[in-house]
Amino acid sequence: MRISSLTLASNLFLSPLAGYTNLPFRLVARELGGVGLATTDLVNARSLLENKSKALKLIETRPADQPLAVQLFGSVAREMREAAARLESSGVASVDINMGCPARKVCRGGGGSAMMTQLDKTARLVRGVVEAVKIPVTAKMRLGWDEENITAPDLARALEGAGVAAVFVHGRTRQQGFGGAVNLGGIRAVVEAVKTIPVIGNGDVTTPEAAKMMLEQTGCAGVSIGRGAFYNPWIFNHTLHYLQTGQLPPEPRFDERLRVLRRHLDLMLEVFGEEHGCRMFRKVAPWHARRFGPASQFNRNVVRIATRADLEDVLADYLRWRQQFLDDQGELKPRFRPPPMVASFMEQAPSAERGTQDAAPGPAIPVPKGPVEVW
Ligand SMILES: Cc1cc2nc3c(=O)[nH]c(=O)nc-3n(C[C@H](O)[C@H](O)[C@H](O)COP(=O)(O)O)c2cc1C
Repeated sequence: MRISSLTLASNLFLSPLAGYTNLPFRLVARELGGVGLATTDLVNARSLLENKSKALKLIETRPADQPLAVQLFGSVAREMREAAARLESSGVASVDINMGCPARKVCRGGGGSAMMTQLDKTARLVRGVVEAVKIPVTAKMRLGWDEENITAPDLARALEGAGVAAVFVHGRTRQQGFGGAVNLGGIRAVVEAVKTIPVIGNGDVTTPEAAKMMLEQTGCAGVSIGRGAFYNPWIFNHTLHYLQTGQLPPEPRFDERLRVLRRHLDLMLEVFGEEHGCRMFRKVAPWHARRFGPASQFNRNVVRIATRADLEDVLADYLRWRQQFLDDQGELKPRFRPPPMVASFMEQAPSAERGTQDAAPGPAIPVPKGPVEVW
């Protein structure tokens, strides 16, 4: 897949999830394979120019974290241009402009989803960024402000005219938040609105089958995956395999899930130090555990870890507790197996081939608790 001058190893993208898609998680996903391009959490252009430590931490990277897009937000044209130029000189592969953030504090300043309601002004700002750098500039948007204002097709066309190299579309409106189903027809309308640039579809892709369906029904060139990657960081690798061969790899085994959980914490400690890394890990560990089967005991205890050794203690306790749910072979008894994930836009549970057909359909993909609920 190509985005202007950038050639990517796959058409699968890791979506920006503020607070989650930091360097450690990006490395975890990349090590498992299949990621074409990963994007940082959104970074305030002004904070970057002011060398605020939080912004600098957000753009921290390593050679193994390539190719990397940095997502910028802001509404002051000069700041956006200068921030993009600075990112280019630091070796970033592409710059993504956030237009889909419905958080009040972002929209108030004219950035985020507010950009979608002011097409001309936005196109001018974006053209300035495109002209300031040689690397591709992309844009991430929702379908529009609400059902009555589906602006994404017009915005995408205007941005293509302004020189944007690709567009990422989350198939929901700002008003929808994370509720309701992702609107594949809405994504298709964006694909049809642009002439040559790739459109990358996004929203609720939690399985390889969902990725395939989004590609087929919208005509999008690639798929971007956010929350689904937290349940299942193997999703990129498995989706690539499925798209290439039609075969679904089996779900990762529990011991492989534990290996990746530990690897994730180790990287958190390398990047953030033990104290801060452990504190941050408390909120991401339950995402890994969603596919462990019964995990309430793990979730209760992991939120108290303060050291790497604490995680091992929590896991040792958990493994003892989990025994009660296992059969003679050490596998989860069928009634305790997590139900298959189901994307909002797929009617039926897709993973019958994985032997979980007895389980009830999976729950809708949740939004993490806390201030991030406004995304
Ligand atoms: C916790 C959280 C943080 C997010 N942070 C960002 C962000 O920084 N920039 C952005 O463009 N979108 C952000 N999003 C939106 C996601 O990139 C994505 O569009 C949305 O979650 C739908 O995709 P998914 O269903 O695959 O997660 C965030 C979403 C969540 C749940």
